[in-house]
Amino acid sequence: METNTIDNKSIDEEKQGDVFFQEQLANKAANKHFYIESYGCAMNFSDSEIVASILGEMGYAPTKEMDQSDLILINTCSIREKAEDTVRKRLRIFDKVKKKKPGTLVGVLGCMAERLKHKFLEQEKLVDMVVGPDAYRSLPQLVSEAIDGDKGLNVLLSREETYADISPVRLNSNGVTAFISIMRGCNNMCSFCIVPFTRGRERSREPFSIVAEATELFNNGYREVTLLGQNVDSFLWKHPETEETVNFAQLMEMVAKIHPDLRIRFSTSHPKDITDEVVHTMAKYENICNYIHLPVQSGNSRILKLMNRTYDREWYEERVKSIYNILPDCAISSDMISGFCTETEEEHQDSLSIIEFANYSMSYMFFYSERPGTLAAKKYEDDIPLAVKKRRLTEIINLQTAISLKHNENIVGNTYKVLIEGNSKKSDLDFKGRTTHNKLVNFNKKEGYKAGEYCMVKITSCTSATLRGEIV
Ligand code: SAH
Ligand code: SF4
Ligand code: F3S
Repeated sequence: METNTIDNKSIDEEKQGDVFFQEQLANKAANKHFYIESYGCAMNFSDSEIVASILGEMGYAPTKEMDQSDLILINTCSIREKAEDTVRKRLRIFDKVKKKKPGTLVGVLGCMAERLKHKFLEQEKLVDMVVGPDAYRSLPQLVSEAIDGDKGLNVLLSREETYADISPVRLNSNGVTAFISIMRGCNNMCSFCIVPFTRGRERSREPFSIVAEATELFNNGYREVTLLGQNVDSFLWKHPETEETVNFAQLMEMVAKIHPDLRIRFSTSHPKDITDEVVHTMAKYENICNYIHLPVQSGNSRILKLMNRTYDREWYEERVKSIYNILPDCAISSDMISGFCTETEEEHQDSLSIIEFANYSMSYMFFYSERPGTLAAKKYEDDIPLAVKKRRLTEIINLQTAISLKHNENIVGNTYKVLIEGNSKKSDLDFKGRTTHNKLVNFNKKEGYKAGEYCMVKITSCTSATLRGEIV
């Protein structure tokens, strides 16, 4: 009895302390603005929307004007050296803003946080806080301390954090398409990749919170959601009590059933984990787009083994055949790395030939960039000269560009259902949108049509990267 009283008292005190902290924060954050830039993959853009929600609770409103903000945040990427260089350049710009307006706080978020935490806080004097991808809930505390002049750091990775209960604040939104994070981290150990180190262990988000987020988006006028994870095919949620499970195909079905007018996309699929069940589910629902991003990285089995991708060329080819077999009208895209450690000219030729085999609609293509701390950095020499890596990359890009162009030329004259996303980049007289195959189409506006609506677009011309069409 007595223990209970003590317990209750301490809980009450904690609550009061919490209220006091909230009040203090509200005072500190009154009329304050934050500005945020995001680099790297869609996960980072999605995370910035979680950050915006956490800061919003605190009282900070988003602004697009860096000079007018009280808190400048940069959500960073470590995937290649170039990504990190971009961040360093941006920090120099922020430094100038800070000099003009002392008191402006600068925070580094995301994947560079863990790797460069000390460097940021010690060498780059302008950085006031460094916060890793699993520690965004500590932002109110860190921001509050930074206002008082104390630099803050939290880069702890978590095995549980999925931010499932946080309702993201959509930033730079077109009001039509949105990302939903369905899982975090990655359990694969591809030898070239820094992500398992920057984002930690894989964990799946509670599926009903995903369906609730998608439903809310639909009710607010959104018509397309992209389910995000580093390896969506290994999504697996287990009910803590009943042990009932939900896999990726089942999750996708739950989201597809929300409304036939809500389009579903997903990224990224891993060749070792994508199942026929996923492809059958895609075939069953018209609103799940016929598009799979299935990064191969290399077309050669020896290199794939060194990369620790855990599949070989034959396995990959079988997966591609199975996809085209179950869903003939599916577009597949890829990621490719040229010049990985010890790659020979013949092995590079295998990467070219798999592009032809898989007939990718498009690819993201990179030359290998050694990342400190990865398995490849520890075990293999980065022995392909930069000029060779770049020449091989150019060959890969040229081939993919030719194949993408062929894809597009083949569909001139076809008509597709397109979701209008808004004005095209180049002209306010044009709309832009995407086909089920994730191809960008620009087309003339027409009376009676607006963003967020579907229309039928006949393709009239193309380049390797975009389509031109007209509403029919
Ligand atoms: N989870 C995804 C990849 C995420 S990273 C997957 O497994 O496919 C996005 C892409 O960056 C990778 O597919 C890879 O092609 C590229 N990449 C990752 N590390 C790299 C490195 N060290 N050098 C060059 N490209 C790299
Ligand atoms: Fe990196 Fe491999 Fe995980 Fe993709 S699957 S994030 S490449 S470790
Ligand atoms: Fe970059 Fe991190 Fe994404 S390293 S690619 S932002 S997971």
